[in-house]
Amino acid sequence: MSQEDIESMMKEKRTFDPPKEHSDKAYITSMEQYEEIYKRSMEDPDGFWAERSEELIHWFKKWDSVSDYDLHKPEVKWYVGGKTNIAYNCLDRHLENGRRNKAAIIWQGEPEEDVRVYTYQMLHTEVCRFANVLKSMGVKRGDRVSIYLPMVPELAVAMLACTRIGAVHSIVFAGFSAVSLQNRIQDCEAKVLVTADAVLRAGRTIPLKPNADEAMGKCPSVEKCVVVKRAGNEISMQDGRDVWWHEIMEDESISDECPYEEMDAEDTAFILYTSGSTGKPKGVVHTTGGYLTYVAHTTQWVFDVHDDDVYWCTADVGWITGHSYIVYGPLALGATSLMFEGVPSYPSPARFWKVVEKFKVNIFYTAPTVVRALMREGVEWTRKHDLSSLRILGSVGEPINPEAWMWYFKYIGNEKLPICDTWWQTETGGILISALPYATPLKPGSATKPMPGVDAAVVRADGTNANPNEGGHLVIKKPWPGILRGVYGDPERYKSTYFERFPGMYESGDGARVDDEGYFWIMGRLDDVINVSGHRMGTAEIESALVSHESVAEAAVVGMPHQVKGETIYAYVTLKSGVEETDDLRKELRAWVRNEIGAIATPEVLQFADGLPKTRSGKIMRRVLRKIAASKYDDFGDTSTLADPGVISDLIEGKKSLL
Ligand code: WTA
Repeated sequence: MSQEDIESMMKEKRTFDPPKEHSDKAYITSMEQYEEIYKRSMEDPDGFWAERSEELIHWFKKWDSVSDYDLHKPEVKWYVGGKTNIAYNCLDRHLENGRRNKAAIIWQGEPEEDVRVYTYQMLHTEVCRFANVLKSMGVKRGDRVSIYLPMVPELAVAMLACTRIGAVHSIVFAGFSAVSLQNRIQDCEAKVLVTADAVLRAGRTIPLKPNADEAMGKCPSVEKCVVVKRAGNEISMQDGRDVWWHEIMEDESISDECPYEEMDAEDTAFILYTSGSTGKPKGVVHTTGGYLTYVAHTTQWVFDVHDDDVYWCTADVGWITGHSYIVYGPLALGATSLMFEGVPSYPSPARFWKVVEKFKVNIFYTAPTVVRALMREGVEWTRKHDLSSLRILGSVGEPINPEAWMWYFKYIGNEKLPICDTWWQTETGGILISALPYATPLKPGSATKPMPGVDAAVVRADGTNANPNEGGHLVIKKPWPGILRGVYGDPERYKSTYFERFPGMYESGDGARVDDEGYFWIMGRLDDVINVSGHRMGTAEIESALVSHESVAEAAVVGMPHQVKGETIYAYVTLKSGVEETDDLRKELRAWVRNEIGAIATPEVLQFADGLPKTRSGKIMRRVLRKIAASKYDDFGDTSTLADPGVISDLIEGKKSLL
């Protein structure tokens, strides 16, 4: 976050009361009710979480104990001894409860005329068939399946097919490169890969299968690859390994019936890789009973979803937001979830609003970067369509600056809809801090209050509680059912990243403050993770991609404030001696990163530097690099420990000559 944004949030004093309209139907209708539930959830967490799960989830066998944990170890278990199945809860039970013919997924493809609707019955059949396909390929309970797909319905089908038979899915965002895909497949040793011929994006066809081919060439664990035909572009299919989705799904030997596995509550449901402050991405592990309970619980209370609502979360299923709030949360509740393949700006900046009008969307959940981008295009686009169906707005992925909040409120919310700014992480499984739409008075820029059951706090470096308005580390003091259960294959990293610094607590890595009224204001990451358009990137990952290039001696990457993206990537690169600093090399290095990680990791600015600001002990002073990237050349703080203070003026010169 930029200094201006932080200052404008510190000054923010406006509040907006929750709407009265529709509140008669709401799950939670007042702050008093929230306070009461919250208090109860803190005093009797097991009672609270038992009730929520019983209400929301069907268990084949009830648990023996609600929770069993020790955050010092760390070890966390929820609903121990219970048996359930995620796909059963998202599909089968709705066939019996009157929702059989209700739309489960409305899919709007990028071309306007590409619309598909799956009722719960239809989705059930597709999922059973694909589960049988996976079984025919030898996939068994506990085996990993990697999924590398654009936003097509087959993505949701593949996920649910995995959870139905107890296979563990690992979804890789389709914007990642072949190398990123390869690393993720290798880490979890997936047996099957599900991919597509191409991604359709902003009118272009971007081939995807060649990336999958390149990755699979180095992933001996992959025995079979299923390919969805999305664009019809020419691709190569390897005999014996690759099959078309549409062909194998039509195979006569594939049955419409597939029994679900009765999974233990603590069986792994999926792995999702996310960036950390050091090293390679980590495979965040989520399990069955706790995750499912948690996403159903939060979807219901934060979005106040009712049976006749059309609910639209604009995220990509390749990220946790899509897992929890396009697929599992809404389907567990039997809701209608809209899945959108396109982008907000194509064919015009009115696209989102056109979709809202077309399907009469009631609940709309997006990211601040989208709001800022559309804000820049001007309000006229918002006026081209009827947005009166909207009832609740949501925001996720990064702090929403008060200016963007006000625009969203005014032009999309018509100055009356609640905006739920939801704070959470891949690791948390679901939303931890958010307004409840018909209860919480809103303050623009604040995620407001912890969800019932969530013991959030801001602490100082020594672990003691910060005072009101004092910035510190955002931690959670008790586990909740959706908390990650591990880093795949790396228990040590699980412990050291989240549970070591503040013993007995979960460390989020974010900074925050709590105001006098108990409202949380998230200040952004405290570690070397940056947030580009709501996408989490590890600076260490980008640096290691850069130094793997033969011309690069050293690299340091920092976030630079950006008006639309929130932050963007700024790379300082020192070349090996004798290598010339040319524009061509700059281009080559940017392309190199794109190829190593993916387009989202491409440095926006790449500055060649003869030296980096290092302390005498060799540590790079990133604070200085961040300031220079932001063109703030005054007040670098204490630089007395720098080995060569002259580096700073050289870097400033270099920066200025870039512009
Ligand atoms: C940031 C996305 C402020 C935060 C669900 C967190 C937010 C990281 C918000 C997790 C918000 C997410 N306000 N910051 N409402 N939501 N963040 O794992 O820094 O992709 O640690 O999960 O995004 O990103 P992730």
